[in-house]
Amino acid sequence: MKENYTIRPMKTEDYDKVFEMWQITTKRALSSADERESIARYLARNPGMSQIALDGDRVIGTVLAGHDGRRGFIHHMAVHPDYRRHHIGRALASTALKRIAADGIKKTHIFCYRDNSLGQNFWKSLGFEQRDDIIEFSFNHKE
Ligand SMILES: CC(C)(COP(=O)(O)OP(=O)(O)OC[C@H]1O[C@@H](n2cnc3c(N)ncnc32)[C@H](O)[C@@H]1OP(=O)(O)O)[C@@H](O)C(=O)NCCC(=O)NCCS
Repeated sequence: MKENYTIRPMKTEDYDKVFEMWQITTKRALSSADERESIARYLARNPGMSQIALDGDRVIGTVLAGHDGRRGFIHHMAVHPDYRRHHIGRALASTALKRIAADGIKKTHIFCYRDNSLGQNFWKSLGFEQRDDIIEFSFNHKE
């Protein structure tokens, strides 16, 4: 079945199945920003950009994609372990990148854990260039 998957834009109604897969693929990266209401808001702000891959009605891959009007950003690029190395991740990322580029955005960024060599190899294979000139800073907004 690995060749018979389909890709379509993610909808809020997909949340339960997507979140279930993220428990396996993406647990370390999950935060309150991934609660149902937050994801619904994200999808509404970036219509048609985030994608899921399906085998029948089983969610086997995800990519969250959007832009801020200036740069594109991709999060939660993931393929279920049973379906890896069949270029499903590449197809998801390519679809998301096309949607971002269609809005006139010239560059897209991803965050990747320093010890995630699998993720780094994947992004490099898609033509992403590793940046060594930037340090990321984050600020936690208080309630
Ligand atoms: C990264 C991930 C999404 C890749 O999904 P995938 O569908 O298996 O990837 P693809 O089959 O499209 O691979 C595309 C290319 O990426 C590279 N790649 C993918 N997996 C790799 C691996 N295990 N080792 C080395 N290179 C790899 C290869 O160049 C591959 O092309 P090739 O198979 O023709 O050599 C998947 O492994 C995953 O979900 N990992 C856990 C979550 C994660 O780390 N996401 C990235 C966060 S930054």
